[in-house]
This record gives sequence, structure tokens and C-alpha cells, in this order.
Amino acid sequence: MHRLIQISDTHLSAQHGFFFDNFQRVATAINAAPPDIVVSSGDLSVNGPETEEDLDFALWAHHLIEAPVRFLPGNHDVGEEPGGEHLDQPITHHRLAVYQERFGPCRWRERLGDWLLLGINSQLFNTGFSDEDDQWQWLDAELSAHRGPVGLFLHKPLFAEGPGEAPQPATTVSPRVQGRLHDLLLESGARFVACGHVHQRQTFSVDGIAHHWCPSTAFQPAAPRDGCDPALGFLEYKFEGNQYTVEFRSVRGLDAWVLEHIKENGKYAFLKDVPPQPVTVDWRRPQNGV
Ligand SMILES: [Fe+2]
Ligand SMILES: [Fe+2]
Repeated sequence: MHRLIQISDTHLSAQHGFFFDNFQRVATAINAAPPDIVVSSGDLSVNGPETEEDLDFALWAHHLIEAPVRFLPGNHDVGEEPGGEHLDQPITHHRLAVYQERFGPCRWRERLGDWLLLGINSQLFNTGFSDEDDQWQWLDAELSAHRGPVGLFLHKPLFAEGPGEAPQPATTVSPRVQGRLHDLLLESGARFVACGHVHQRQTFSVDGIAHHWCPSTAFQPAAPRDGCDPALGFLEYKFEGNQYTVEFRSVRGLDAWVLEHIKENGKYAFLKDVPPQPVTVDWRRPQNGV
């Protein structure tokens, strides 16, 4: 049996350090029974597109986790894809390079027993960058070459509800690529799609493919979607043969921050604009060989 833990939307920053205490508690809980691998599925930082120090701190903090960690970029790390703009922070080649210098490739593959687990960069969709084409080709090749079960990880949900839904670009990958990605996964017999971004937990199925939304370790939305649970924590996957299970794990002592309250109910438009609350840890000190 193999175990994987998915954490998401850690939103770490040395200056806007609201959520570091929660992250430390999550790291301690994970280290109590280390899995084979941890996936941190994006929005690692508060303001990665503009503040390299936020990315540096997020990387430093993730080294508190003893198991190997695979990272995925979110809109708060490399910027926003066309159609998904919210903060006027478009994804750029420079922002991708700054991220990759720290966290490694934006797409990756892992084998756990019979399972192939793939991670892709949802922020590339609809950009027209050559990286976007490369990612499609890579995904196609990986899915074609594997004969066993497959799970896909990315930051943004593929669907909010399912094929044919009204476009929800703030919530999902670009509506222009939803069908293409779903068809590719369907053809290859993929079993699940796991994402973050929405800071709430939900599982639903589309044409036999399960979609798992991972909660944040940092903060909750004030108004979760119908049927979703905003409780902070992480997801634990267990793989045995060609079967898997996924369960929510809560962590004792997490502060249930609510985004709208931190932004003082509209006084500040975005988290990055809220007055700083620096972390007190001496984080630039080398730690465990980091
Ligand atoms: Fe987020
Ligand atoms: Fe996000």
C-alpha cells in the first residue's frame, strides 16, 4: 500500500505570515506518519508573481515536511491565465522561470505501485505559450504509454459541475480546454483529477472520473459553494493494486481564517494589500541541509 498526502493553497509569505502557524501544524501532522509523497497543489505563496521573497519563504517552509514534496504552480505563484484574470497579474515567461528556479518543473510524473500520477500546470492553459503545446504533447504521451490506473493533479478544477456548465473561469481551467482535457483523460481511462484553488472540499464524478477538491491549509472562503466543506486540512490517498481511497484529514489547532475577515470585509481588495504581519521565525537560517 502506498500513501500520498495532498495539501493545497498554503499561501505562505514571510511578510503576510498569517497562515504559517497553520502550515507548521500541518507539517507536524504529516511528519507523524510520513507518506510516500506529498503534493502541494498550488497557491504556495501569497504574492509570488510580484514578490520573489514569498516564493523563497514558501519553499523554505515546505522543507519542514520530511517526505518528498512535488509542487504545482497556482495563480498566486506564476500568475493568471487568459480568461482567469482577477488580480491583473498575467502569467509570463519570466514569472514561470522565477517559479521553476525554486520549485522545479511545472509538470511531473510519479509512480506509486501500479499507479501513474501526473502533475500539470493549469495556469498554462489558453496562453498560447509553446510550453502549453509541450504540456499537451507530454500529457498525451504519458497517458498513451501507461497501461495501469492514472490520477492527475493540477491547481485549478477541471469542472465546477461537469460538461456543459456555464463558463466559470475564476473557478475552473479555461472553459476552452475543459472538453479537450476531459476527453483525453476519458480515452486513457484516468481514474481521478485532484485540484486545489477553491479552498473547499468536494468530490464528484463526471463520466466515471472522480474529481477531488482539496481544502486549503490557510484560509476558508466566507461563502462556500453548495455541497462543499471549507474546513481546513488535507487529503490522504491510499493506493493498493489498481484501487485507491481518499479521505479528508483535519488537523487539531488550525486557525479557521476567513479571507473576507482578513481583508476587513472589503477595506483591502486582495490579501497582498493587507498590512503585513511578518513571521517571527528566523527563516533565512539554513535548516536541515536546505
Ligand atoms: Fe488559493
Ligand atoms: Fe488559486
